[in-house]
Amino acid sequence: MEERLQKILAGAGVASRRKCEELILGGKVQVNGETVTALGTKADPDVDEITVDGKAIGTEKKMYLVFNKPKGVITSASDPQGRKIVTDYLKGITERLYPVGRLDYDTEGLLLLTNDGEFAHLLTHPKHHVAKTYLATVKGVPHGSELDKLKNGIMLEDGMTAPAEVEYHDIDSEQRHSTISITIYEGRNRQVRRMFEAINHPVTKLKRISFGDLFLGNMKRGLFRHLTKDEVESLVKLAKQAGKSSAGRSAIKSPDDSRIKAVEEFKPKPKPRPNTKPATKSANAQTTTARSASGKPASTKATAKPASKQAARSSSRPTSKAKPAGRAGANGSRNRKAGDSRRRGK
Ligand code: URA
Repeated sequence: MEERLQKILAGAGVASRRKCEELILGGKVQVNGETVTALGTKADPDVDEITVDGKAIGTEKKMYLVFNKPKGVITSASDPQGRKIVTDYLKGITERLYPVGRLDYDTEGLLLLTNDGEFAHLLTHPKHHVAKTYLATVKGVPHGSELDKLKNGIMLEDGMTAPAEVEYHDIDSEQRHSTISITIYEGRNRQVRRMFEAINHPVTKLKRISFGDLFLGNMKRGLFRHLTKDEVESLVKLAKQAGKSSAGRSAIKSPDDSRIKAVEEFKPKPKPRPNTKPATKSANAQTTTARSASGKPASTKATAKPASKQAARSSSRPTSKAKPAGRAGANGSRNRKAGDSRRRGK
């Protein structure tokens, strides 16, 4: 069957689709011996001989890895400055793999690697809005109203960001730093860092803990593992669903509203009188519900601590004594779930 050349090349594991386009434009690709430089060109891999720099494209076995990238490693196939690159860590892997999207040099955490260009394309295409969650340690403790700005979308130099989900995760006892979990659906350059800079709380440490419904869990830094067939299929399904949904994000977003709610719960509330009834069950459930990309709350178990009670103790700016409502969820059910390096919902 005839297909666009860049799609064939990416599917054959030559490189990501964008890189394949560059190869075509750069005159590196030949079809039946003729160099092709037009991006729209179609070919049939069953009939045509397709070569890159004179070498026939293979039908390499598709490979999918999840890697815990340490800080101080470049997400690229080579570095002219000789710094460490992700593939330095892939001992025993002879396939030519490339990263699915990027993490900054200083960012650590979950990075997917593959030789399946279509998979990489699907998961990184802005249209597919795959959720990515980060733990961002920032200077100071952002006020709830500042986090609201991230939640609603904030103007950066390259335009408004899409709404994000944010939740207090931890605050140091002297309130010099706090850790916020943030889920975004885009993949702009240094996006999370720029978002926090925009609210004057620069990021000092950034770690990606999930991509779609795949979680880093307790995988050690610098290690990798192969994704299971189910995990690959689930990510593909998720990206396709999100791409199809008319609102774009709705296929994976709705349960996350609960996490936004957790931040809202954090706003000052009147101190309850001793006989005040505890918060309703549903309110608690909302504050402790974690995202599951399948669209189902991962857990509502950690409801023992009424969120309103915690919030009521807090001032308008969170203190380390008054635990943010989201924290119970984040350090309780959510992290336990995140501790499972396999995807949720199985
Ligand atoms: N946002 C950032 O700022 N950096 C990353 O590495 C990923 C997301």
